[in-house]
Amino acid sequence: MQADMAPALSNGFHSETGPARSLCGQAGQWEQTEAGRLTSTVEWAVNAAMADADSPLSLGKNVGLAVVSEKYLANYPLHSEEERILSPRACPRKRVEFALGRTAAHFALKQINPEKTGPVFRGPGGEPLWGDGIIGSITHCFPWSSAVVVKGSHRFAVGVDLESMKRMQGTDISHLVCRDAELDWVRHGDFHERLTMIFSAKEAVYKAFYPLCRRYIDFKEVELTWFPEQNRFQAEFLQPLSPDFPQGQACAVHCLRYSEMVFSCALHQFQ
Ligand SMILES: CC(C)(COP(=O)(O)OP(=O)(O)OC[C@H]1O[C@@H](n2cnc3c(N)ncnc32)[C@H](O)[C@@H]1OP(=O)(O)O)[C@@H](O)C(=O)NCCC(=O)NCCS
Repeated sequence: MQADMAPALSNGFHSETGPARSLCGQAGQWEQTEAGRLTSTVEWAVNAAMADADSPLSLGKNVGLAVVSEKYLANYPLHSEEERILSPRACPRKRVEFALGRTAAHFALKQINPEKTGPVFRGPGGEPLWGDGIIGSITHCFPWSSAVVVKGSHRFAVGVDLESMKRMQGTDISHLVCRDAELDWVRHGDFHERLTMIFSAKEAVYKAFYPLCRRYIDFKEVELTWFPEQNRFQAEFLQPLSPDFPQGQACAVHCLRYSEMVFSCALHQFQ
C-alpha cells in the first residue's frame, strides 16, 4: 500500500500556508486556491486550539493535518485491511468518502511519523483506531475530507468536524441539537450559520470524547457558549461522561467558517 500511496501524494501541491497539507491531485489554479483556503481554515482552527490548550503541541512535529478533495484526486488506494472495513453493500459515495478520509489520515500521519503509517482501523463505535500513542479524528463534507492527528494519546483528546451550511438549510434540527441558551444564541444571528456551528462543534466534541467514554453522548448533554473574540465555544459537560470525566468539566471547541462550510476542532488536554 505504501508504494501505491506515492503517486497520490506526489500529485499533491503545497498549500498557501506552508508544507503540503492539501491534496487535490491534478487541480487547476482555482481548485488549488479553494483547497489552500480550506486548509488555511483548518490550520487556523487547529493552531488556535493548540495555543488555547497551552500545550507543547506544534504542527508538523507532534500534530499533523490534511485536507483532501475527491474532485481532483483520482488515486486514493487503501491498505487491504482498511478495504475490509467497508461493507460490500456500501454505496459508491460512501466508499469514496471513506477512502478520502483514510488518505487524509495517512497524509496527516506522515507529517508526524514519516517512517510508518500502518492501517487506520475502525473501532466498534465507528471511531478510527490509530495505534502507537497517536490519537486523531476524521471528517467528511463531500467532496472534502480532513484528518487531524496528535502524538500523545494519553494526554489529549481531539475531534474535528467539517459541516456544510447548505445541508443545514434543508430541515430545522435546532430543537434536537440545541439547549435553550444555545437556541437563544442561534436565533439572535444568522440562524443557519449558527446552527451549523453548534451542530459541527458538538459532533467534534463527540468524536473527541467517545474514545474515552465509549457511550453515546446526547446533543443536550453538552452546553456551548460562544466567545467571539477567540472564535471558540466553551463546551460544558452537564452529565458525567465517565468516572474520569465528571459533570461540569469543559473543553474548548474552535470553530471557523470558510465559504459555506464550518470547521470545528475540539482539543482537550488532560491535567
Ligand atoms: C459519529 C458522528 C459524530 C459522525 O459525524 P458525521 O457528521 O456523521 O460524519 P463525519 O464525516 O464528519 O465523520 C465521520 C467520521 O467520524 C469518525 N467517527 C465515527 N464514529 C465515531 C466515534 N464514535 N468516535 C469518534 N469518531 C467517530 C470516523 O472516522 C468517521 O469516518 P470514517 O467512517 O471514514 O472513519 C455522527 O454520525 C453521530 O453519531 N453523531 C451523534 C452524536 C453526537 O454528535 N452527539 C453530540 C454530543 S455533544
